[in-house]
Amino acid sequence: MAVESKYDPKDMIFRHLGPSGLKVSVFSLGGWLTYGGTQKGNIVKECLQAAWDNGINFFDTAEVYASGQCEIEMGQALKELAWPRDEYVLATKIFFGTSRKEPNTRGLSKKHVVEGLKSSLKRLQQPYVDIVLAHRPDYATPMKEIVEGFTQVIRNQNLAYYWGTSEWSAQQISEANLVAEKYNLIAPIAEQPQYNMFHRERFEVEYDPLYKQYQYGTTIWSPLASGLLTGKYNDGIPEGSRFANHASFFNSTIEELKTDEGKSKIEKVRKLSSIAERLGGNPSQLALAWCAKNENVSTVILGATKVEQIHDNCKALKLLEKLTPEVMKEIEDVIQTTPKGRPTFGRDR
Ligand SMILES: NC(=O)c1ccc[n+]([C@@H]2O[C@H](COP(=O)([O-])OP(=O)(O)OC[C@H]3O[C@@H](n4cnc5c(N)ncnc54)[C@H](OP(=O)(O)O)[C@@H]3O)[C@@H](O)[C@H]2O)c1
Repeated sequence: MAVESKYDPKDMIFRHLGPSGLKVSVFSLGGWLTYGGTQKGNIVKECLQAAWDNGINFFDTAEVYASGQCEIEMGQALKELAWPRDEYVLATKIFFGTSRKEPNTRGLSKKHVVEGLKSSLKRLQQPYVDIVLAHRPDYATPMKEIVEGFTQVIRNQNLAYYWGTSEWSAQQISEANLVAEKYNLIAPIAEQPQYNMFHRERFEVEYDPLYKQYQYGTTIWSPLASGLLTGKYNDGIPEGSRFANHASFFNSTIEELKTDEGKSKIEKVRKLSSIAERLGGNPSQLALAWCAKNENVSTVILGATKVEQIHDNCKALKLLEKLTPEVMKEIEDVIQTTPKGRPTFGRDR
């Protein structure tokens, strides 16, 4: 009997997730602060559907998002949408726990990696995730135990196919790879770092050797700097926006907007809007396409409170084709955030 396919890739671009055979859409969708947070019920399902309708096949959540509520909302939406399980890629992240006080309900001990992921899967109503990420490094757990824990959920328990890291240093990622090789364990395949026009150093400089040595993949977070790059904060903080809804969490960012540095960022966003308009798009699409343009990006995770934002943001695919070297130079001249690079003491290759 033929298997019914519900997925139409449209004109989506796919990239391998690091050295693996797994292919992910260059834009994906995540649920931080949104699903299970400000957005619950039908809207979550509608956002996932909008992403799917644009060819997105990769979805991201974490145990910590809304203290587990994000996984519950996204899991329920996935259940109701009833897409064939082999037609989408699901990620969750373990480390921060779900706001419980018992010390073993967070971190990267073998116990929490295994039990945390099992709890995540229950909330998601899923038998497995495709990739589980260590949401932060855990300085309190030996690296061998961390790699063993992730190997165990993949190799012995079939709770995930791959594992990755988030906001680990390049040195920690290398150590995990070396430990995996030495003890015949499974190495991580991708990092989830922040990367956007205003936040580049770690992704472009620190991680550069990892792309060459391990073909390490990346799933980018906050590509719009939480909305700053959309232009929505150019004239203050609109009611109902992320900075308004989460004012205390974003306090330092909001305060920064009043300083010369903050005002200069807004000025840059205004200039980027002119470039985007000339190319037939808007500043959000330009900022997203700019991220995707980097070949070390496997997927750019979108965040969205509204269905229209997803449709709007996916039009970044059209702008991607228009980012010629000349346009990239023009953008660089506006943002002026090119990282310095490592000192080479005249020993450049
Ligand atoms: N690993 C980590 O440590 C980590 C950390 C953060 C995020 N993440 C992952 O990365 C995903 C994306 O991060 P993010 O949500 O911070 O991404 P982002 O793209 O920087 O910000 C998304 C927010 O910007 C606003 N927005 C998006 N498109 C818009 C548009 N076209 N017009 C106007 N406003 C728009 C929306 O907020 P409002 O409508 O509320 O203003 C939306 O929720 C998360 O969902 C999560 O899966 C991972």
